[in-house]
Amino acid sequence: AQKADGGLAAALRAARRVVVLTGAGASAESGIPTFRDALTGLWERFDPARLATPEAFEADPGLVWGWYVWRREQIARCRTNPAHDAVTRLQRAVRARGGTVTVVTQNVDDLHERAGAEDVVHLHGAIAASRCSVCGAPAESEAAPETRAASDTAGPEIRTGGARIAPPACPVCGGPVRPSVVWFGEALPRGEWLRAEAAAARADLLLSVGTSSTVYPAAELPHTAARAGARIVQVNPSPTGLESIVRDDVRARAGAALPGLIDAAFGR
Ligand code: APR
Repeated sequence: AQKADGGLAAALRAARRVVVLTGAGASAESGIPTFRDALTGLWERFDPARLATPEAFEADPGLVWGWYVWRREQIARCRTNPAHDAVTRLQRAVRARGGTVTVVTQNVDDLHERAGAEDVVHLHGAIAASRCSVCGAPAESEAAPETRAASDTAGPEIRTGGARIAPPACPVCGGPVRPSVVWFGEALPRGEWLRAEAAAARADLLLSVGTSSTVYPAAELPHTAARAGARIVQVNPSPTGLESIVRDDVRARAGAALPGLIDAAFGR
C-alpha cells in the first residue's frame, strides 16, 4: 500500500459519502484497552469465552456482570481523545459540503457521542445500556444500591474479572439483567448492521481507524466499500491484513495522526 499521499487531503475534501469505521484503537489513547494488542489487549488478560458469551452469562451471571461493571466504570473515567474529536470534525466538514459521514463503531463506549459525533452506528451495542436477558425489556444499568455497594467493595479482584456482582433483576419479569453489548456468537443488531452495510455500499471514501479488521461481519465493510469504488484509508500503527485494498495506509496512532489529516484537508 502506498504511504498517504497529498491526494488524501483532496480526496477527503471531495468525498460526499463517507464511512468512518472505528475499532478499539480509536479509544486506545483515551486509556481504554484494546482487545488484541499484545500484552495490553483485554483478550490477552481475560478469557472472552468466560466473559463475553451468552453461555458464560448463563453459567455465571455474577462474574460476567461484575466484569462489565468494571469496564463500564473504567470507560466512565476516560475522556475522548483527539481521534474522536477529529472524526467529529470530519463529519461536520463533509456535512457542511452537503455530504454525509456515517460513523460506524465496533466500540461499546460512548466516546464518539461525547466528542459530538451524530448518528453513530454501534455494531456491537453499547456498554452503558442494559436489558433483561430473559424478556429483553430495557433495564437500568446502574446496579441496585446493595449491588452498587458490592462493586465499590469488590476492590482489586474486580480488575481480574474475578469479582462477582449479582446482576439487577428485570423490573418486568425478574430475570437477570445483562449489558446490551453483542457477545461472541450473537447476531449484530439488525437495524445497525443494515445501516452500516448500506452506507458502505454507496461510500466514496471509507476511513478505517484502529481496528484489526479480524472480526466479522464488521470487517466485511471495507471490502463492500472498495467494491463500490470507495477510496480506502487506514489509520493504524500496525498492519491489519486490509492493506491490499487500502489506498492510503497511515501507519500511526489515531490520536496523533487524524487531527493532522483533517487539518490538511479542511484547514485548522
Ligand atoms: N491508534 C490507532 N490504532 C490503534 C491504536 C491507536 N492508538 N492502538 C492500537 N491500535 C490498533 C491495533 O494495532 C489493532 O489493529 O487497534 C486495533 C485494535 O484491534 P482489536 O483489539 O482487535 O480491536 P477491534 O478491531 O476493535 O476488535 C473488534 O472484537 O472483541 C471483539 O467485539 C469486540 O468490537 C470488538 C471486535
